[in-house]
Amino acid sequence: MFKNYGLLGIEHLEKEEIEKILELAFFYKDCIKKNIKKLSALKGKSVVNLFYEPSTRTKNSFELAAKYLGANVINFTTQGSSVQKGETLKDTVSTLTAMGIDAVIIRHNVSGTPMYLKKYINLPVINAGDGMHEHPTQALLDMMTVMEYKGTLKDLKIAIIGDIAHSRVAKSNLIGFSKMGAKVFLAGPSTLVPEAAKKFGAIISYNVKEAVKEADVVMGLRLQLERQKKNLFPSTGEYAKYYGINSTVLNLAKPDVLLLHPGPVNREVELTSEVMDGEKSCIGEQVTNGVAIRMAVLNLLIGGNEYEKAV
Ligand code: CP
Repeated sequence: MFKNYGLLGIEHLEKEEIEKILELAFFYKDCIKKNIKKLSALKGKSVVNLFYEPSTRTKNSFELAAKYLGANVINFTTQGSSVQKGETLKDTVSTLTAMGIDAVIIRHNVSGTPMYLKKYINLPVINAGDGMHEHPTQALLDMMTVMEYKGTLKDLKIAIIGDIAHSRVAKSNLIGFSKMGAKVFLAGPSTLVPEAAKKFGAIISYNVKEAVKEADVVMGLRLQLERQKKNLFPSTGEYAKYYGINSTVLNLAKPDVLLLHPGPVNREVELTSEVMDGEKSCIGEQVTNGVAIRMAVLNLLIGGNEYEKAV
């Protein structure tokens, strides 16, 4: 990070930078709660939401965040664009840059695309999820959600369950929560939990019940079937039976456990509807916090007047 550079991954953030983003995001959450949605930190700025992969939460919350701060927003999706005529990513971004944009928010199915782009453009690049690499604003909104309920991240037990191998969310959260002093446990089928995660400080288990025991936070992950090149488990039914989070599993965690999931959820596979819609679920709050986090990131990158007087 940061000012005028971009946010390519949680990997590049210092603990103090994470704290600064969270603090500003709580300020913006308060503004939103008070229905103050016409701020001016990005007045006169234009950002492009460049999405080469589907998204509901990230794309729309970046759009709302930019608009609440007074920016103009271009929403770019490949469908209906000249990408379908063969225009390269580099040429697409050069074209948009020539229109006078101030930052690029990019989601792409290829890991490393935001870093590739940053080499060619002199604008802040925000990674909105790249392949199996990172999803930094997701991890920031997850940390914000936990901070909101627990008051701290230090020494918490965070159990992340499921398709770790293909999950950019798991990687960003592992790095982020570890930097903030939490202990991160990863669990799932051995084919979906890479040993390499240990180098980021993860404690690995292939037994969900063991990982969830006495956890402060349990996070389910979507089975990323579109990224799996071969069969890595017998069936979704078996996956749900052995690795799905249901009320029996969740009851092994602390009584005040928070249930998180980045979404979208495959109901009755990663989570039963009972726990997803239950009182321990913070999934709705994660989405709400996504807007505030993205306001904070955009402001710190291209805005000014961080704690502007709300108008
Ligand atoms: N969590 C997440 O990235 O969701 P979307 O794919 O809907 O943006």
